[in-house]
Amino acid sequence: MAVREYMDEQGFWEVETPILTKSTPEGARDYLVPSRLQHGSFYALPQSPQLFKQILMISGFEKYFQIVKCFRDEDLRADRQPEFTQIDIETSFPSRESLFTMIEGMMASVFALKGITIPMPLPRMSFQDAMDRYGSDKPDTRFEVFLQNFTEIFKMGGAGVFREMAETGNTVRGLVAPKVSYSRKQLDDLAIYVKQLGGAGIAWIRIADEGVNAAPLVKNAGAGAVDAVVQKSGAEKGDTIFLMAGPTEATLNLLGSLRLELARKENWIPQGRWNMLWVVDFPLLEFDSGENRWVSRHHPFTSPVDEDLELLETHPERVRAKAYDLVLNGTEIGGGSTRIHRADIQARIFTVLGFTEQEARDKFGFFLEALEYGTPPHGGIALGLDRLVMILTGQSSLRDVIAFPKTARAVDLMSGSPSPVSEQQLREIGIQIRRS
Ligand code: AMO
Repeated sequence: MAVREYMDEQGFWEVETPILTKSTPEGARDYLVPSRLQHGSFYALPQSPQLFKQILMISGFEKYFQIVKCFRDEDLRADRQPEFTQIDIETSFPSRESLFTMIEGMMASVFALKGITIPMPLPRMSFQDAMDRYGSDKPDTRFEVFLQNFTEIFKMGGAGVFREMAETGNTVRGLVAPKVSYSRKQLDDLAIYVKQLGGAGIAWIRIADEGVNAAPLVKNAGAGAVDAVVQKSGAEKGDTIFLMAGPTEATLNLLGSLRLELARKENWIPQGRWNMLWVVDFPLLEFDSGENRWVSRHHPFTSPVDEDLELLETHPERVRAKAYDLVLNGTEIGGGSTRIHRADIQARIFTVLGFTEQEARDKFGFFLEALEYGTPPHGGIALGLDRLVMILTGQSSLRDVIAFPKTARAVDLMSGSPSPVSEQQLREIGIQIRRS
C-alpha cells in the first residue's frame, strides 16, 4: 500500500499487462502455454513486462508502474522463486538522477513502515569496484573485509602455480580474515567449499604467535613473496590470509563467496544494519562460453553508454551499459536501465547478440516496428517485492514470505502441481507426451 500511495502521489499510472504473451528475454527459460486454437503455437508467461512497459512509453503514457507477477523457469535458490512479484516502473524523459531520487523516496516510505531511516541519497559503487573489493556485483557492505590484488608480488616470486598464474594473464587475489586461525581440518573444509563452487582450491598464510606459516603452494613462491603479501595485506598476528589464483572474474566471484561464507561462520555481519546502495557502470555484455556468443548482462534493450557505442562491434567487452542495480545487505533488490530508443542501435545490438535480421524480426518485430514511431528516451527499473519483504522481515528465504511457495524443484507440494493432465486435455491442445 505504501508503494501504491507513493507512486500515485508521483503521478504514475498503474497499468496491467498481459500474462499470456510472447517470450521476453530476461535470461531465464520461459514457461510456455500451448494454444488450443493454433496447435503447435505457444504463449510464454512474461519473465517481466519489459517490452510492454517500453511500448507504453512509445504510446505516450510517460509514467507507468505495476505490481506484477513474473515467471522464470530457472534454477531456484533461497532468493529465487519461479513466480515472484515485481514493482515494475518505467518513465519517459527520465534522467538517471531523477529516477534514483524517485526510487530512494519510495524506499524511504517503505522502510518508514518499520521505523527505519536509511540515509539518502544512497551511496553508489561501480561494478568494477564492487567486483575488485567485494567479489560480487551485489556487495554486502555491512562488514569491512575487502579483497586485495597480489598478482604483481607473485610475478616476482619463485616458480610454482602462483607465479605461473600471475605471468599468464590470470590473477592472484586474497583477503585477510581477522582473528581467524583454523585447524588443518577447518582449512580442508573451506577448500572443499571452494571446490564445490568450481574453484581449484584455496591457499593460506597464517600469522601465528610463533611466526608466519604458509600453505605449500604459497611457500613455493619464497619467503620474500610471503612477506610481501603479509606486508601489503595489513594482516596482523592471529589473522589468516586466504589466496586464490585463476581467471579474473571467476577468482573474484569465488573469493566473494568465501568472504560471505567466512562472515557466516565468524558472525562478522552486525544485526540491524540496512546497507542499501546503487551499483552502476555495468558492462553491457558478457561472453557465454556455453553458447559461444555475447549475451546481455541486463537485457537486450539496455542502452550502451554513448561514447562506447563505437566499440560495439570491435570490442564488445569494453562497452559499458546505462544500467543500475539496487542492493540491500548483499541482495539485489532491483535492477533497471536507460533503454535504447533508436531502432538502428537496437538492430546493432541484436546483431552483436548473434541474431540474424530474420530472427530479430520473428522474435521482436513488433517492438522494432514500435521503435520507429518516434520513441521518447525512456528508462526504468523493477524491484523484487518478495525479496524486499524477505529482508524487511528478517527471513533468509522467499518461501517464508510467499503464500503457497514452490520447492527447489518448482513443486507446489500443497496442491501437487505440476501434475499430469488427461488424454482429452492433451488432445484439445494438440500435444502428445514423448516418454524418453
Ligand atoms: P531483473 O531481471 O533484474 O530486471 O529483475 C528485477 C528484480 O526482480 C527480482 N527477481 C526475483 N525475485 C524472486 N525470484 C526470482 N526468480 C527473481 N528474479 C528477479 C530481483 C531483481 O532485482 N525487466 C527488468 C527490469 C528493468 O530493466 O526495468 C528485470 O526484470 O529483486
